[in-house]
Amino acid sequence: MSLLDQIVARAKADKQRIVLPEAEEERTLKAADKVLANDLADLILIGNPENIKKEATEWGLTHLDKATIIDPLHCEKTEEYAALLAELRKKKGMTVEQARELVTKNNLYLGCMIIKTGDADGQISGALSTTGDTLRPALQIIKCAPGITCVSGAMLLITKEKEMGKDGVVVMSDVAVTPNPTADQLAQFAYCTAQTAKSLAGIDDPGVAILSFSTKGSAKDAKDKTTGKSVYIIDKVIEATQLAKEKYPELHVDGELQADAALVPSVAHTKAKGSDVAGKANVLIVPNLEVGNIGYKLVQRLGGAIAIGPILQGIARPVNDLSRGCSVDDIYYMVAITSCQAQDAKANEAK
Ligand code: ACO
Repeated sequence: MSLLDQIVARAKADKQRIVLPEAEEERTLKAADKVLANDLADLILIGNPENIKKEATEWGLTHLDKATIIDPLHCEKTEEYAALLAELRKKKGMTVEQARELVTKNNLYLGCMIIKTGDADGQISGALSTTGDTLRPALQIIKCAPGITCVSGAMLLITKEKEMGKDGVVVMSDVAVTPNPTADQLAQFAYCTAQTAKSLAGIDDPGVAILSFSTKGSAKDAKDKTTGKSVYIIDKVIEATQLAKEKYPELHVDGELQADAALVPSVAHTKAKGSDVAGKANVLIVPNLEVGNIGYKLVQRLGGAIAIGPILQGIARPVNDLSRGCSVDDIYYMVAITSCQAQDAKANEAK
């Protein structure tokens, strides 16, 4: 069974309630129909019911009567959501009027309020919205998972290089959210990405490499000419590795490692003797968003890898982002991924 089929099977085994706030968008509505036809998840569609009905007829969609449709302009819980949102954002000066405006006019905010009040388990948007617009209500309303202060985005990369990663599969982060993370944030990404690898990539024993252009001191940080201080590129990765080891003693993590030392046993043997992660890493943490975003796209486009994601991690309930060029199947599989993350979030909360 392929990785995606395994994720779908897991999602179906314990169905979750997923919000699609861009329900009137064509690919989203077609994906919703497929989700319901295959009994993958329970869906809450936010949009104008008349428009959705009209579109369903036009596009021959026959399973949408199984979804709950919420009209943002006639939602019976508007006042409850507005009051709670204003309370949550009180420190930022949000009034009930402003909150009401958001939950009636911005479906992404309404969806996050539905999750916040326990009526749904996860949300997916991005066919129409930017990454920032998808993330902002999640960060403001749902907030981070316990113990986490910084959200990140992981990419599952299914490569043809079966001798690297876990049978060719590596999970890489952060590729989507935080432009210039601190050492502590990198340590959190290491932890969250290892959890994602276990949950979604079938990697039972994640080996996490925190990457740099240096392996174990092969290069040194440059000094700032004025202050004489480290420019904090390699040193940040060294500090992140130390923090990850201290904060998450059960985590199998090492750094600073170059990508080849992390992935290739012969290179690891030469450059990182004694490391129990080097040469067999299957989780890669990059030092900043530029490296992550450019790196995964090179692996995908030049290396022919299948890239699944970004999968947002570290939010108390899963909210995922789609590319605006996404297909119906991309949305379908993202519903499955989000469902598995929701199962994990509930299981962690019950611990
Ligand atoms: N983790 C947790 N919380 C965060 C994070 C984070 N990484 N970033 C911001 N927040 C919180 C802030 O603390 C703030 O909370 P508060 O309002 O309760 O105090 C709230 O989120 C809003 O933060 P702002 O900084 O005011 O919001 P901003 O408008 O800057 O948006 C965002 C933050 C959306 C994460 C922004 O940094 C962003 O757009 N990041 C890059 C996304 C992107 O474009 N990625 C590349 C494309 S994806 C791809 O190609 C795969």
